[in-house]
Amino acid sequence: MDKRITQLLAQEEKRQRETINLIPSENYASKQVRNLVGSIFANKYSEGYPGRRYYQGNTIVDQVENLAVERAKKLFGVPHANVQPYSGSPANSAVLFVLCDTESTIMGMELASGGHLTHGHPGITFSGKYFNSVQFGTDKSGLIDYDAVGRLAKKVKPKVMIIGTTAYPLILDWQKFAQIANSVGAYLVADIAHVAGLVVSGVYPNPVPYAHIITTTTHKSLRGPRGAIVMVTDKGIAKDPDLPTKIDRAVFPGLQGGPHDNTTAGIAQALYEASQASFRKYAKKIVENAKVLAKTLQNGSVELVGGGTDSHLILVDLSPQGLSGNVVSEAMEAAGIVSNRNSVPGDTSPFYPSGIRLGTPAVTTRGMGVAEMKQIGEWILSVIRHVGGEKLSNDPKERTKFLKDYRERITKDKFLKKISQDVKNLCKKFPLL
Ligand SMILES: Cc1ncc(COP(=O)(O)O)c(C=O)c1O
Repeated sequence: MDKRITQLLAQEEKRQRETINLIPSENYASKQVRNLVGSIFANKYSEGYPGRRYYQGNTIVDQVENLAVERAKKLFGVPHANVQPYSGSPANSAVLFVLCDTESTIMGMELASGGHLTHGHPGITFSGKYFNSVQFGTDKSGLIDYDAVGRLAKKVKPKVMIIGTTAYPLILDWQKFAQIANSVGAYLVADIAHVAGLVVSGVYPNPVPYAHIITTTTHKSLRGPRGAIVMVTDKGIAKDPDLPTKIDRAVFPGLQGGPHDNTTAGIAQALYEASQASFRKYAKKIVENAKVLAKTLQNGSVELVGGGTDSHLILVDLSPQGLSGNVVSEAMEAAGIVSNRNSVPGDTSPFYPSGIRLGTPAVTTRGMGVAEMKQIGEWILSVIRHVGGEKLSNDPKERTKFLKDYRERITKDKFLKKISQDVKNLCKKFPLL
């Protein structure tokens, strides 16, 4: 194997092994899933769908895709599933291309309040540029005001409401969103990318009875390979019996070429894993761990958006301390705790936000529990206190220079180095799969 890439792989393995991963959208797929993604299924081309391919030699791949589709249908309780989207963003693109034309109004939650870019983020994304996108946010405490969403829907009459979150710690009320969508005749698309593993385990509300279409990634709490699934519910088929065919055509040939058969095989394996009783226990533990971590941070006087968590995710608001997400997330990384900076309600720049986003799917996969969450919470609190005086200027030039110097300083910081050593010792007790 090439030396350079071997070196980089070893470095990344070491990084993953020796640090605590609190990025809520990441996870550790099982060895079986990873083996399938790296398997000879990667060699095959199979444009089309099982039984209707443009290439010969697909007898086995057809069975792999059918297996993944049947498992998705059974696990989520839906009559139609397409497992071919390359990832979550193409899955949402396919759905919007089916339901909308360029005159259509779509409604979604804004990025700064926890929505995703593909839900109509204006200016720079296809969903915000090619459709008439209207967005709603949260109130000052970070909660969705369903009455305000309803009033906005009545005013703008969206064709589609695409609802899901990437940085919202509380649960969504699918029934309320369905009532709003139904009242204006809109399609309700539930994007459960972040919480799919929790949904199939019964620890997060299931949108299947309420939405017409469900999209999800397969690599977050579902713990599969990087990929996505688009599903049509009974309600969706009742609204438009051709919806399954339209979705399939939008994915291929509308948006994509050949599916990644190696990923499809990995998805089939991940769906098998997610249907086991042990996975349901895992999902329950994810939420328990998130609640313990949240409480530990709150006990240390740190403010959380939404006042806590009902899911796998915690959004820390650092504005009361006058701190930026950049300063804290960089220092946490120097201490061996990997997170990401994130906007909190009221922020204007996603690049220099006042929050950090934390999640427990990955640490829970490693087998960590209550005691470890308390310890990790205490480490985060001590990092926040340690960098309390590090203020980021609003001036762009000063800010860039500060961050460059700051990065150099914190990698040599003895206090953070000591935590990173303690983190390494903890990680040794919870080896990666
Ligand atoms: C809610 C939601 N939808 C869609 C996506 C897009 O997924 P991908 O990054 O696989 O394109 C994400 C990714 O974070 C997400 O959080």
